[in-house]
This record gives sequence, structure tokens and C-alpha cells, in this order.
Amino acid sequence: MGCVVSKKKGLIDDTLEISRTNEKYPFPQKNNTWDRLTLQHYLFRYIWQSNFSSPIKESIRSDSIKVLDVGSGSGPWVHEMAGEFPNALFTKIDSKTSHQNSTLPNLILKDYDFAKLEPLPFPDSTFDFIHVGFLASELPEKQFQTLVNELARTLKPGGYLEIMDVDFQGGNEGPSAQRLMSSLRSYYKSKDINPLITQRLESIMKATKCLADVTVQRTLHPLGNWEDKIGELALFNWLQFLNDHKSDVVPFMGVSDSEYRNLLQEFKSEVDLFQTYWISSRVYGRKTQ
Ligand SMILES: C[S@@+](CC[C@H](N)C(=O)[O-])C[C@H]1O[C@@H](n2cnc3c(N)ncnc32)[C@H](O)[C@@H]1O
Repeated sequence: MGCVVSKKKGLIDDTLEISRTNEKYPFPQKNNTWDRLTLQHYLFRYIWQSNFSSPIKESIRSDSIKVLDVGSGSGPWVHEMAGEFPNALFTKIDSKTSHQNSTLPNLILKDYDFAKLEPLPFPDSTFDFIHVGFLASELPEKQFQTLVNELARTLKPGGYLEIMDVDFQGGNEGPSAQRLMSSLRSYYKSKDINPLITQRLESIMKATKCLADVTVQRTLHPLGNWEDKIGELALFNWLQFLNDHKSDVVPFMGVSDSEYRNLLQEFKSEVDLFQTYWISSRVYGRKTQ
């Protein structure tokens, strides 16, 4: 399946396409015990039909390369990758790993808070591949730049750094979506977090002065039923996110909890009419010397 999405309001880039031609990764049978981040992992794996875009497919399969996953959360990405590529040695680093255990022989956990703004606990040139998923939109931009500089230091020459994230601005947003997203952006800005950080990732990588061949990939994905079944799950995932962030967003909207719930309902019912879509980006670069 492949389609070009109509963009009534032309928010981002008229050439963007949704392309899911070869389903190497079908969407797994949805399991009710999944948390939001696990559902999100399977959604993006399906949408991109891969877990990464950097050109490391051969080396990760055959060599014992070292991979770092930064801000892993419960770790759906890194656990799946460590299982799929048993020759590679994976490390996941997050401020919430202290209560977690590794169940895989090729996966190490490291508990660490990036807000410390100290050098990461790894020597120079340690990793062949570093993956950062959905963390750029959680850290203040300056802090994220410091982290990316550090990641570039710990990357081996020839290794790849890849960052993936979403925009907190969709396309073809209806009135409720516009209201919710603009309040969410206000909340992030109040924390010095750039809600459209994906549009800065290329510059952030280039600012390290040691990442070359920086490549930007962007994908649109429908929310709701107007394109395919997966849009329904994407909408469900967004509603979960907006629900989880209710106490962050409500103060920027001046609405009561019940008005907020109504707004989520309106958002749910307007996406098919407006053909609302969501945008995610992957940006990767190769370390020079
Ligand atoms: C949205 S989750 C993404 C999780 C995972 N990468 C995924 O794709 O499912 C962001 C993660 O970043 C971690 N994180 C946020 N701020 C952090 C900080 N200052 N230091 C370390 N980890 C942090 C959180 O603990 C959380 O697990």
C-alpha cells in the first residue's frame, strides 16, 4: 500500500508520502497489557517498516557491534533489537532503569540522569550505533544539544547516531486538535522544550562538528479511520498521550477536567472529517573522525 496524503492546510511539505509497500513488520496482535510506549513502538515499527534507518543492516547482523539506546523507557525498541540481533551488544541508558533487570545476555542497563549535564559514563569512541527514540521532545533543547555532543563523543568514527521523534503539530488539524496541540506546545515551551524539535535535529547533529552525511526522513501517518486501520491505533495512542498529559495541558487551556474530556471526544470525532495526520522524523548522521 502507498499513498500521498492530501494536505488541505499545507502545513509541512507537499512531497511527503506514506509508503508501506512491503510489510516485513506486520502489526502484531494487539495485547491489552501493552503500555502506551509499547503500542507506540509497534505503531512506528509498522509505519516505517523498520526499527532504524541508518545503513548498519549488515554489521548489526554479523558483527559484535556495540549499540546504545538512549532514553529507553521500558525498552520495547532495545529489547526487540537485542533479541533480533544476538551478535550485537546493547546498552540502554535512562534515569528509570534502577528497578529494571536485563533478561537478555546481550543487554546491559545503565541508570543515568541526562539533566546532570556531565559527561556520559562511557569512554570516547565506544559505540558503533546510537539510537535515541522520543527523547528529544522530553528535554530542553540546550540540554538535548549537550547530550547529542556527548553521544557524538562516545560514537566510534564511522558509527551512526540516529534520532527519532514526532512533531507536536499535525497536518489538517480540526479545531479541537488545533486547540489541544497549541496548548501542548505552550506547555513544552514553558519548560524550554522545543515542541517542533524534529525540525532542528539536522542542525543539532551538524553543530557537533563531527557528524557528516546527515540524512532527514519524515513520514506522515493518518489519525483515525480515513486511511487504514492503523490510523485508529495511532489515534488511540494520541488520546492516551493527551490523557496522560491532562494535568500539564489543562492549565494552558483554562478548561475544567470534564471540558478537557469533551475536547478529547471532539478531537476523536473530527479527525476523519479533516483527514488529520501526524508526522514523525528520523535523522541520522555518521561520525567522521
Ligand atoms: C517518551 S520515553 C521514550 C522511551 C523509549 N525510547 C521508547 O521509544 O519507547 C522518554 C524516556 O526518556 C527518559 N528520560 C527523560 N528525561 C531524562 C533524563 N533527564 N535523564 C534520563 N532519562 C530521561 C524517560 O525516563 C523515558 O523513559
